[in-house]
Amino acid sequence: MSWEEVDKGWGDQAHVWASIMEPRWWPEFDAVLRATEVGQGTNYLDIACGSGFMINMAARRGAQAHGLDASGRLLTLAKRRTPGADIRHGDMNALPWSNETFDVATSCRGIWGPNQEAVVEAARVLKPGGCLGLSFFSAGRESSQIGKAFHAIRRISEHEIEWSQQLGEIGLEGRAEEMCENAGLVPRDRQAVQFDLEGADIEHEIRAWMSAGPAWMAIQERGAEEVESSIREELSQLEEPGIGVRTQVQIEYVVATKPT
Ligand SMILES: C[S@@+](CC[C@H](N)C(=O)[O-])C[C@H]1O[C@@H](n2cnc3c(N)ncnc32)[C@H](O)[C@@H]1O
Repeated sequence: MSWEEVDKGWGDQAHVWASIMEPRWWPEFDAVLRATEVGQGTNYLDIACGSGFMINMAARRGAQAHGLDASGRLLTLAKRRTPGADIRHGDMNALPWSNETFDVATSCRGIWGPNQEAVVEAARVLKPGGCLGLSFFSAGRESSQIGKAFHAIRRISEHEIEWSQQLGEIGLEGRAEEMCENAGLVPRDRQAVQFDLEGADIEHEIRAWMSAGPAWMAIQERGAEEVESSIREELSQLEEPGIGVRTQVQIEYVVATKPT
Protein backbone atom coordinates (compact mmCIF):
# COMPACT_ATOMS: atom_id res chain seq x y z
CA MET A 1 0.00 0.00 0.00
CA SER A 2 1.44 3.42 -0.93
CA TRP A 3 1.43 6.22 1.62
CA GLU A 4 -1.31 8.04 -0.30
CA GLU A 5 -3.63 5.10 0.39
CA VAL A 6 -2.98 4.95 4.15
CA ASP A 7 -5.92 7.26 4.90
CA LYS A 8 -8.37 4.71 3.51
CA GLY A 9 -7.69 2.47 6.49
CA TRP A 10 -6.59 4.88 9.21
CA GLY A 11 -8.99 7.69 8.32
CA ASP A 12 -12.26 5.81 8.13
CA GLN A 13 -12.91 5.93 11.90
CA ALA A 14 -10.52 8.77 12.69
CA HIS A 15 -12.81 10.35 15.31
CA VAL A 16 -13.06 7.03 17.18
CA TRP A 17 -9.28 6.46 17.08
CA ALA A 18 -8.71 10.01 18.32
CA SER A 19 -11.16 9.88 21.18
CA ILE A 20 -11.11 6.33 22.52
CA MET A 21 -8.01 4.57 21.19
CA GLU A 22 -5.08 6.97 20.95
CA PRO A 23 -5.37 8.56 24.45
CA ARG A 24 -5.05 5.10 26.07
CA TRP A 25 -1.37 4.94 25.03
CA TRP A 26 -0.41 7.97 27.13
CA PRO A 27 2.00 6.02 29.43
CA GLU A 28 4.04 5.13 26.33
CA PHE A 29 4.02 8.74 25.08
CA ASP A 30 4.99 9.97 28.54
CA ALA A 31 7.88 7.47 28.82
CA VAL A 32 9.29 8.40 25.40
CA LEU A 33 8.92 12.16 25.98
CA ARG A 34 10.75 11.82 29.31
CA ALA A 35 13.50 9.63 27.87
CA THR A 36 14.12 12.09 25.03
CA GLU A 37 13.89 15.04 27.49
CA VAL A 38 11.27 16.96 25.55
CA GLY A 39 10.56 20.19 27.43
CA GLN A 40 10.50 23.96 27.23
CA GLY A 41 11.77 25.14 23.84
CA THR A 42 12.58 21.67 22.38
CA ASN A 43 12.18 21.71 18.61
CA TYR A 44 10.18 18.50 18.39
CA LEU A 45 8.78 16.25 15.61
CA ASP A 46 6.43 13.27 15.96
CA ILE A 47 6.56 10.96 12.93
CA ALA A 48 3.34 9.06 12.04
CA CYS A 49 1.65 11.21 14.68
CA GLY A 50 -1.87 9.90 14.08
CA SER A 51 -4.46 12.21 15.64
CA GLY A 52 -1.73 13.99 17.57
CA PHE A 53 -2.17 13.09 21.25
CA MET A 54 1.61 12.93 21.74
CA ILE A 55 2.12 16.24 19.93
CA ASN A 56 -0.31 17.76 22.40
CA MET A 57 1.57 16.29 25.37
CA ALA A 58 4.83 17.70 23.98
CA ALA A 59 3.29 21.14 23.39
CA ARG A 60 2.02 21.19 27.00
CA ARG A 61 5.61 20.62 28.12
CA GLY A 62 6.63 23.74 26.24
CA ALA A 63 8.02 22.14 23.06
CA GLN A 64 7.68 23.67 19.60
CA ALA A 65 5.64 20.79 18.28
CA HIS A 66 5.59 19.42 14.73
CA GLY A 67 4.00 16.29 13.34
CA LEU A 68 3.54 14.30 10.18
CA ASP A 69 1.14 11.55 9.17
CA ALA A 70 -0.16 10.00 5.98
CA SER A 71 -3.80 10.05 7.07
CA GLY A 72 -5.42 13.40 6.27
CA ARG A 73 -8.48 12.58 8.36
CA LEU A 74 -6.41 11.78 11.48
CA LEU A 75 -4.50 15.02 10.91
CA THR A 76 -7.72 17.06 10.87
CA LEU A 77 -8.17 15.94 14.48
CA ALA A 78 -4.50 16.47 15.37
CA LYS A 79 -4.71 20.09 14.14
CA ARG A 80 -7.91 20.63 16.12
CA ARG A 81 -6.17 19.28 19.24
CA THR A 82 -3.08 21.47 19.00
CA PRO A 83 -3.83 24.44 16.72
CA GLY A 84 -0.41 26.02 17.34
CA ALA A 85 1.58 23.01 16.13
CA ASP A 86 3.07 22.60 12.64
CA ILE A 87 1.28 19.46 11.44
CA ARG A 88 1.83 18.19 7.90
CA HIS A 89 0.38 15.56 5.60
CA GLY A 90 3.02 13.37 3.99
CA ASP A 91 5.16 10.26 3.91
CA MET A 92 7.57 9.39 6.72
CA ASN A 93 10.05 8.27 4.03
CA ALA A 94 10.27 11.82 2.63
CA LEU A 95 9.93 14.30 5.50
CA PRO A 96 9.14 17.85 4.34
CA TRP A 97 11.71 19.53 6.62
CA SER A 98 15.34 20.52 6.01
CA ASN A 99 18.40 18.69 7.30
CA GLU A 100 19.27 19.29 10.96
CA THR A 101 15.98 20.95 11.99
CA PHE A 102 14.93 19.13 15.19
CA ASP A 103 16.32 18.51 18.68
CA VAL A 104 14.10 15.46 19.12
CA ALA A 105 12.08 13.22 16.81
CA THR A 106 9.84 10.38 18.00
CA SER A 107 7.69 7.69 16.50
CA CYS A 108 5.40 5.54 18.63
CA ARG A 109 4.32 2.40 16.77
CA GLY A 110 4.61 4.45 13.58
CA ILE A 111 7.96 3.16 12.30
CA TRP A 112 8.01 -0.65 11.98
CA GLY A 113 10.27 -3.48 10.81
CA PRO A 114 10.25 -2.70 7.07
CA ASN A 115 10.72 1.08 7.59
CA GLN A 116 14.53 1.49 7.59
CA GLU A 117 14.18 4.39 5.15
CA ALA A 118 12.02 6.30 7.64
CA VAL A 119 14.75 6.01 10.30
CA VAL A 120 17.28 7.42 7.81
CA GLU A 121 14.88 10.32 7.16
CA ALA A 122 14.43 10.91 10.89
CA ALA A 123 18.22 11.00 11.32
CA ARG A 124 18.53 13.49 8.45
CA VAL A 125 16.20 16.05 10.05
CA LEU A 126 17.84 15.78 13.51
CA LYS A 127 20.43 18.32 14.57
CA PRO A 128 23.83 16.88 15.57
CA GLY A 129 23.44 15.91 19.24
CA GLY A 130 19.67 15.48 18.75
CA CYS A 131 17.92 12.19 19.39
CA LEU A 132 15.28 9.85 18.01
CA GLY A 133 12.89 7.99 20.33
CA LEU A 134 11.37 4.91 18.71
CA SER A 135 8.78 2.76 20.47
CA PHE A 136 7.23 -0.54 19.42
CA PHE A 137 5.59 -3.69 20.77
CA SER A 138 7.90 -6.05 22.63
CA ALA A 139 8.64 -9.23 20.70
CA GLY A 140 6.37 -11.98 21.99
CA ARG A 141 3.26 -9.81 21.92
CA GLU A 142 1.56 -12.83 20.25
CA SER A 143 1.34 -14.60 23.60
CA SER A 144 0.46 -11.48 25.61
CA GLN A 145 -2.95 -9.96 26.34
CA ILE A 146 -2.53 -7.30 23.65
CA GLY A 147 -1.78 -10.21 21.31
CA LYS A 148 -5.43 -11.24 21.62
CA ALA A 149 -6.56 -8.13 19.73
CA PHE A 150 -4.05 -8.72 16.95
CA HIS A 151 -4.87 -12.41 16.87
CA ALA A 152 -8.56 -11.60 16.50
CA ILE A 153 -7.82 -9.57 13.37
CA ARG A 154 -5.03 -11.75 11.98
CA ARG A 155 -6.79 -15.07 12.16
CA ILE A 156 -9.44 -13.89 9.71
CA SER A 157 -7.26 -11.72 7.45
CA GLU A 158 -4.80 -13.21 4.98
CA HIS A 159 -3.17 -9.82 4.50
CA GLU A 160 -2.58 -9.26 8.21
CA ILE A 161 -0.94 -12.64 8.90
CA GLU A 162 2.15 -11.91 6.85
CA TRP A 163 2.21 -8.13 7.10
CA SER A 164 1.88 -7.99 10.87
CA GLN A 165 4.82 -10.39 11.25
CA GLN A 166 7.07 -8.12 9.17
CA LEU A 167 5.89 -5.04 11.07
CA GLY A 168 6.51 -6.66 14.44
CA GLU A 169 10.12 -7.53 13.60
CA ILE A 170 11.24 -4.15 14.95
CA GLY A 171 10.62 -5.63 18.43
CA LEU A 172 13.15 -8.45 17.94
CA GLU A 173 16.26 -8.21 20.07
CA GLY A 174 18.72 -5.76 18.51
CA ARG A 175 16.59 -4.94 15.44
CA ALA A 176 15.52 -1.39 16.33
CA GLU A 177 19.07 -0.66 17.48
CA GLU A 178 20.40 -1.96 14.15
CA MET A 179 17.96 0.25 12.22
CA CYS A 180 19.23 3.27 14.18
CA GLU A 181 22.88 2.35 13.60
CA ASN A 182 22.21 1.93 9.87
CA ALA A 183 21.00 5.54 9.90
CA GLY A 184 24.17 6.77 11.63
CA LEU A 185 22.58 7.09 15.09
CA VAL A 186 24.00 5.75 18.35
CA PRO A 187 21.37 3.80 20.33
CA ARG A 188 21.24 3.65 24.12
CA ASP A 189 19.97 0.64 26.08
CA ARG A 190 16.45 -0.44 25.29
CA GLN A 191 13.80 0.38 27.92
CA ALA A 192 10.30 -0.95 28.54
CA VAL A 193 7.02 0.45 29.83
CA GLN A 194 3.99 -1.61 30.89
CA PHE A 195 0.42 -0.46 31.29
CA ASP A 196 -3.18 -1.55 30.72
CA LEU A 197 -5.40 -0.34 27.91
CA GLU A 198 -8.58 0.51 29.78
CA GLY A 199 -11.98 -0.21 28.22
CA ALA A 200 -15.34 0.40 29.88
CA ASP A 201 -16.82 -2.81 28.48
CA ILE A 202 -16.51 -5.14 25.51
CA GLU A 203 -18.54 -2.83 23.23
CA HIS A 204 -16.13 0.02 23.98
CA GLU A 205 -13.21 -2.29 23.24
CA ILE A 206 -14.66 -3.48 19.93
CA ARG A 207 -15.27 0.11 18.85
CA ALA A 208 -11.69 1.07 19.75
CA TRP A 209 -10.07 -1.81 17.81
CA MET A 210 -12.39 -1.46 14.81
CA SER A 211 -10.95 2.05 14.31
CA ALA A 212 -7.37 0.80 13.74
CA GLY A 213 -5.85 0.44 10.26
CA PRO A 214 -5.34 -3.37 10.47
CA ALA A 215 -9.03 -3.89 11.30
CA TRP A 216 -9.97 -1.90 8.21
CA MET A 217 -7.93 -4.26 6.03
CA ALA A 218 -9.67 -7.26 7.61
CA ILE A 219 -13.08 -5.59 7.17
CA GLN A 220 -12.39 -5.22 3.44
CA GLU A 221 -11.61 -8.95 3.22
CA ARG A 222 -14.25 -10.44 5.52
CA GLY A 223 -16.80 -7.79 6.41
CA ALA A 224 -17.33 -5.77 9.59
CA GLU A 225 -19.58 -8.34 11.25
CA GLU A 226 -16.97 -11.08 11.14
CA VAL A 227 -14.18 -8.80 12.39
CA GLU A 228 -16.38 -7.57 15.22
CA SER A 229 -17.33 -11.05 16.34
CA SER A 230 -13.68 -12.18 16.23
CA ILE A 231 -12.64 -9.25 18.46
CA ARG A 232 -15.58 -9.97 20.79
CA GLU A 233 -14.58 -13.62 21.12
CA GLU A 234 -10.95 -12.84 22.02
CA LEU A 235 -11.33 -9.77 24.21
CA SER A 236 -14.44 -10.71 26.17
CA GLN A 237 -12.13 -13.18 27.96
CA LEU A 238 -10.53 -10.13 29.61
CA GLU A 239 -13.76 -8.51 30.80
CA GLU A 240 -14.27 -8.32 34.59
CA PRO A 241 -17.52 -7.22 36.25
CA GLY A 242 -17.21 -3.72 37.67
CA ILE A 243 -13.76 -3.27 36.12
CA GLY A 244 -14.31 -3.42 32.38
CA VAL A 245 -11.80 -4.79 29.88
CA ARG A 246 -8.18 -4.19 30.83
CA THR A 247 -5.57 -5.34 28.32
CA GLN A 248 -1.95 -5.51 29.45
CA VAL A 249 0.56 -4.13 26.99
CA GLN A 250 4.34 -3.99 27.04
CA ILE A 251 6.07 -1.41 24.87
CA GLU A 252 9.81 -1.14 24.37
CA TYR A 253 11.68 1.94 23.21
CA VAL A 254 15.11 2.95 22.09
CA VAL A 255 16.60 6.43 22.21
CA ALA A 256 19.38 6.98 19.66
CA THR A 257 21.58 10.07 19.37
CA LYS A 258 22.97 11.73 16.25
CA PRO A 259 26.73 12.20 16.74
CA THR A 260 27.99 15.79 16.86
C1 LIG B 1 -0.37 2.57 14.99
S1 LIG B 1 -0.72 4.18 14.36
C2 LIG B 1 0.21 5.15 15.51
C3 LIG B 1 -0.26 6.57 15.55
C4 LIG B 1 0.29 7.38 16.74
N1 LIG B 1 1.73 7.43 16.72
C5 LIG B 1 -0.21 6.79 18.04
O1 LIG B 1 0.61 6.32 18.82
O2 LIG B 1 -1.43 6.78 18.27
C6 LIG B 1 0.25 4.23 12.87
C7 LIG B 1 0.18 5.56 12.12
O3 LIG B 1 1.10 5.53 11.03
C8 LIG B 1 0.56 6.30 9.98
N2 LIG B 1 1.29 5.95 8.74
C9 LIG B 1 1.29 4.76 8.09
N3 LIG B 1 2.12 4.81 7.02
C10 LIG B 1 2.65 6.07 7.00
C11 LIG B 1 3.59 6.74 6.14
N4 LIG B 1 4.15 6.13 5.08
N5 LIG B 1 3.93 8.02 6.43
C12 LIG B 1 3.36 8.66 7.49
N6 LIG B 1 2.47 8.08 8.33
C13 LIG B 1 2.12 6.79 8.09
C14 LIG B 1 -0.92 5.96 10.01
O4 LIG B 1 -1.72 6.90 9.35
C15 LIG B 1 -1.17 5.92 11.53
O5 LIG B 1 -1.55 7.19 12.02
